[in-house]
Amino acid sequence: MFKRTLVTAALPYANGPLHLGHLAGAYLPSDLYVRYKRLAGEDIVFICGSDEHGVAITIAAEKAGVKPQDIIDKYHTINKKAFEDFGIAFDYYGRTSSPVHHETSQEFFTNLHDKGIFKQKEEEQLFDEKAGMFLPDRYVKGTCPVCGFEEAYGDQCEKCGSSLSPSELKNPKSTLTGETPILKKTTHWYLPLGEQQAFIESWINTKTDWKSNVLGQVKSWLTQGLADRAITRDLNWGVKVPLPHSEGKVLYVWLDAPIGYISATKEWAIEQGNPDLWKTYWQDNDTRLLHFIGKDNIVFHCIMFPSILKTHGDYILPDNVPANEFLNLEGKKFSTSRGWAVWLHEYLEAFDADLLRYALGSTLPELKDGDFSWKDFQLKNNSELADIFGNFIFRTLSFVTRYFDGKVPVPALLNDDDKNVLAEIESTGKRIAEKYERFQFKDAIFETMSLARLGNKYFTDQEPWKTRKTDPERCATSLYVCSQLVAALSVYFEPIMPSKMNELKAQLQFNGVKWNEVKGELLQAGHQLSLGEILFAKIEDERIDAQLEKLHQTTTPVSEPSSEAINYTPVKEAIEFDDFAKLDLRVGKIVAAEAVPKSKKLLKLQIELGFETRQILSGVSEHFKPEDLIGKKVPIVANLKPRTMLGLESNGMVLFSESPDGKLVLIESDNLPGTTIS
Ligand code: 2FM
Ligand code: ZN
Repeated sequence: MFKRTLVTAALPYANGPLHLGHLAGAYLPSDLYVRYKRLAGEDIVFICGSDEHGVAITIAAEKAGVKPQDIIDKYHTINKKAFEDFGIAFDYYGRTSSPVHHETSQEFFTNLHDKGIFKQKEEEQLFDEKAGMFLPDRYVKGTCPVCGFEEAYGDQCEKCGSSLSPSELKNPKSTLTGETPILKKTTHWYLPLGEQQAFIESWINTKTDWKSNVLGQVKSWLTQGLADRAITRDLNWGVKVPLPHSEGKVLYVWLDAPIGYISATKEWAIEQGNPDLWKTYWQDNDTRLLHFIGKDNIVFHCIMFPSILKTHGDYILPDNVPANEFLNLEGKKFSTSRGWAVWLHEYLEAFDADLLRYALGSTLPELKDGDFSWKDFQLKNNSELADIFGNFIFRTLSFVTRYFDGKVPVPALLNDDDKNVLAEIESTGKRIAEKYERFQFKDAIFETMSLARLGNKYFTDQEPWKTRKTDPERCATSLYVCSQLVAALSVYFEPIMPSKMNELKAQLQFNGVKWNEVKGELLQAGHQLSLGEILFAKIEDERIDAQLEKLHQTTTPVSEPSSEAINYTPVKEAIEFDDFAKLDLRVGKIVAAEAVPKSKKLLKLQIELGFETRQILSGVSEHFKPEDLIGKKVPIVANLKPRTMLGLESNGMVLFSESPDGKLVLIESDNLPGTTIS
């Protein structure tokens, strides 16, 4: 049995605002867990903070045309506040730019370096000649060697989850300039993870209670075999490598970020007035360490960080890593760049935090990807929170107020129904607790609501509006039972909807109790209640439609650079109208598309123009698969003189638009093939 628990939630990059996908991955589940444990009276500390290093930050700064420090200051503040407003109750929210963090990370590096763990290697790495810098991680994009996804980053493929190094990408392109990089020699330190394979394997084999999605991913990494991983980078933003002659080299962000949990715990301990207290949470075997993360962070928390902790020697290892899968939005992947997201701070401008905590908590992607839809949010609010829980609270409190002077009635003899319902309070509490202990938050929420459902049904079955006249003792007894149920629910719902439950407790004039004390009589007969505002109102269709409209209309996400920050191509020299009039632009329908053998770029397209079908070669195969194009109606330059490429005739040109990152986008038309564009 552990004496205490340390919970960490993945440190979000301070490069943009938080969206609902982030919440569903790590923050809501960890907060539910921590709040439940606090209510259960356990010693638990909850740590998070901003991840402020790595190329996620420098790229965001470059895009916005500001300094990395400006970006991290801005988003550290925004995200810290959004978490607070959403009711995420961290004990400490740190940041990896802090001096304590830099020292702690350097101490780790030095400790492992002095033990002779690292390998120093000179290797050829991708270098952007135009930008004059090496291209670590997300500074390079290309085709994933594992799954063929064309937008894979230099450190990871977001489609198949493979961890990559930039030189493994096919068709690499610099995300800074769009140039194809060259190879250039540089020296780095590597963590030989292969040497840890046997240890990680035997350690993971003891983790029989871990979630299947997490074990599955870890085992697949182990089956592939662990390789050396570079733990330094050529960048001027990050924790400096604490060795002589290492100018321009910083620690890899995935080396320093998890150490951020330790640094933040140190800062928390200082704040507690007991600077050594952090050691109890990181270095004592009686502490249970839990990392809450999203699935893209599994390898770092289940393989890399444990290897580092173990090699250092002074630290405990995670007891569990209850990672979640991804959340989709209205059936599609969240996409910051395309603006397909619901931003937390914007949600909070429109609705109460607790409604989302309930709705999102009920659909967490615990073992497989989940989906958030606004209609579902509305349904959960209206038919569960308002119609069941809210209705039960309101019926009970208003009845007691109206007919019993607002005082919990004195019960008469309890019948079997009363006893059964009262017994359910304790047994449901045990079932909910079991779900929390197993990280089954969706089920915990379902069980919690089932008690409210039971209460609502009991009220209806008891018909106190009739027994008030026909059998006043029965009426009083049933309202006594309902009052106990409402009080129990105010405790059980606390992890899920902390703010609403504070309001409810104020109406009940009830201070609350610990989880295990929810049994027997919570409100004595004669206890004064005070009916207040209804807690859960219905959400009208208009408010949901407005959110849907906003989602579909938002093309520029909050975290994207403003239009001033985009490098627009200068407008070309003015031409005469007659020159323009020479162009014959038509709508053409792509009826067939295939790759051109021996060409990396060309696709052979058959274009129907109504009056004829013609062949056009288009250099777009790095942007589209043939099947993405078939059936699309697009603008065509119809009177371009035919040309021959690789022995094939091309008779015209298809027009595309180009986004700031150099990606081509289709311009689609609804008109008939062959119609003119003018
Ligand atoms: O994926 C991310 O958003 C990372 N910033 C998570 C870091 S978790 C921890 F290691 F700090
Ligand atoms: Zn892939």
